[in-house]
Amino acid sequence: VPEQGVPTDFSPAPLCEVNETAPEGIDIGFSVRDSGCVFEFKLQENSEVYGFGLQLKGFGSRSRKRHIRPNADPPSNTGESHAPVPFFVTTEGWGVYIDTARYVEFYCGFTKKDKGVTGSSNGELHTDFADIYADRRAECETVIAASVPVTHGADIYIITGENILDIVSQYNLLAGGGCEVPLWGLGNQYRCHLRFSSAQVLSMAGSIRSLGIPCDVIGLEPGWQSNAYSCSFVWDKTRFPDWREMCESLKTQGFKVNLWEHAFTHPTSPLHSRLGELSGDYTVWGGLVPDFALEEAKNVFADYHAPMDEAGVKAYKLDECDGSDYTGHWTFPNCAQFPSGLDGERYHNLFGILYGQAMLRALTQRTYGQVRNSGALAASYPYALYSDLYSHEDFIRGVATSGFSGLLWSPEVRHAESREDMIRRVQTVVFSPQSLINAFYLESMPWVELGCTDEIRRLLELRMSLIPYLYTAFEDYRVKGRPPVRALVCDCTEQTALRDVWNEYFFGDDMIVAPMTAAEHSRRVVLPEGDWYGFFDGRKYSGTFDIETEEIPVFVRSGSIIPLAAPVDHVSEDTVFELTLCCYGDTSGSVARIVEDDGVTRGAERRVITLHDYTESVESFRYRIVGRRRTV
Ligand code: GAL
Repeated sequence: VPEQGVPTDFSPAPLCEVNETAPEGIDIGFSVRDSGCVFEFKLQENSEVYGFGLQLKGFGSRSRKRHIRPNADPPSNTGESHAPVPFFVTTEGWGVYIDTARYVEFYCGFTKKDKGVTGSSNGELHTDFADIYADRRAECETVIAASVPVTHGADIYIITGENILDIVSQYNLLAGGGCEVPLWGLGNQYRCHLRFSSAQVLSMAGSIRSLGIPCDVIGLEPGWQSNAYSCSFVWDKTRFPDWREMCESLKTQGFKVNLWEHAFTHPTSPLHSRLGELSGDYTVWGGLVPDFALEEAKNVFADYHAPMDEAGVKAYKLDECDGSDYTGHWTFPNCAQFPSGLDGERYHNLFGILYGQAMLRALTQRTYGQVRNSGALAASYPYALYSDLYSHEDFIRGVATSGFSGLLWSPEVRHAESREDMIRRVQTVVFSPQSLINAFYLESMPWVELGCTDEIRRLLELRMSLIPYLYTAFEDYRVKGRPPVRALVCDCTEQTALRDVWNEYFFGDDMIVAPMTAAEHSRRVVLPEGDWYGFFDGRKYSGTFDIETEEIPVFVRSGSIIPLAAPVDHVSEDTVFELTLCCYGDTSGSVARIVEDDGVTRGAERRVITLHDYTESVESFRYRIVGRRRTV
């Protein structure tokens, strides 16, 4: 019998049908053990396995252990991460979600004892070990074993589909569909130094505008509060003598405000007394740990923060909800007990999602913030994951792996080792789900001293140009569960050459991005079957090749139409995007879609506009067609 306190207890209603009968042809074992229970899923010999949430250290999971335990500093490729998820998908046309918040251990492609046959079949002595190994493997049963601790049962959801994209999309629909983001959320976000005062924030905002750096969101880090570790959620009077006035001024310049916080509540906080009965039995940095599984605790947070929404605070960065093994007491232990009945183990896996839900109630319109922990069934929450880790290579891998499990990842940019490093990192971030510059320990814009402001401006402008295209991809996420950014193997599961490609990804349906780090002078690119065009050089590409370029390698599918907007410095409710229809290859008969709405209202009705390569004008308050470009 499944226990209480599982992800579906807290998730929105599915947008897809769920049947109670198991699909045929998928071999599942189940047993109850002293330690909990075990599910076993039979795996074919040559298939690959993906998923398990955000994975910065590994891509495919075949022959790997995956531990579904949140950890901000995973030391190696064990599955632990900011956002581990008990969902995986195979190249065999099926995937499985286990509905539990426990620290499940998955063993992918492990071999069970022989079924009746021992040794090699022909009785000869093999001298070639590869041979012996192959023989024995054929006689054994390979499984994905999922060991679920404590509970003696769990609901499992088996999802079948044509390809990985189809299965992942259904998983996202099970989670209530993809998130609804505001149009401004797809622009660029800049986070200021953690000790900036309102005067410094305004001066930074002024420089951003005067340098012509497109930016939609200004983020404030811990220093906005009178106490930050743990949090008072009260504006610091010395640094921010009139925070409303500051927000008003930022609003006039077209910025939304995003506030950093974490949930651990300081004794001086006005929330503290209301949370006494609504928090766990351990404290963190002397602060209470609110039990967001309780509606009342969510409402305490929502009611308190709501007035900030009116002043211009449109998003939050929800920090520290993941925990780390290296930061001592910076989190609560697994044995913590919460008034809802959850223990520390399950609360660790649910914390980011429940906290995110609480803060959505504090905001009246759409938002697109950050959270450092997430987990199962998270697709509908408009937060991107981020990290204090900083390997560019791992950050690229995160963009590809997060798409397998209904998560969005920001390969945020902080400092850089060199000009090249800065440019390469910003290239990656503008082609990711969230374009975020997190200068929380930097007093000036990180590119200024490196002498590459012009290059960075051009990249951030390119992000603005891509908003209409990206907005359509996010609409497909919301309605169809289709991840806006995803690994190549998702769409092209049958193309085995793409199975190990961890450092390229689809950006929307028609673009493939192959980021480069500063350490690379050239890189190998593997493209799916068919013709592709270089986004920057307009040349035709196909198959596998090496490329050397200062741009980020981006390829557009032959036959597609990309609506590129003239960049604006921020998006407002009445922004009109001036579109150039960029047509690649033979586009006769092709269509592109753009989505029109007010860009901020939750559940607003959308109008989908269809574009052909010959479309001259559209009736729309949001878009105007100003030109056409052909690449053949
Ligand atoms: C970290 C967070 C950083 C920054 C910092 C401020 O926990 O990951 O992005 O916000 O706190 O102290």
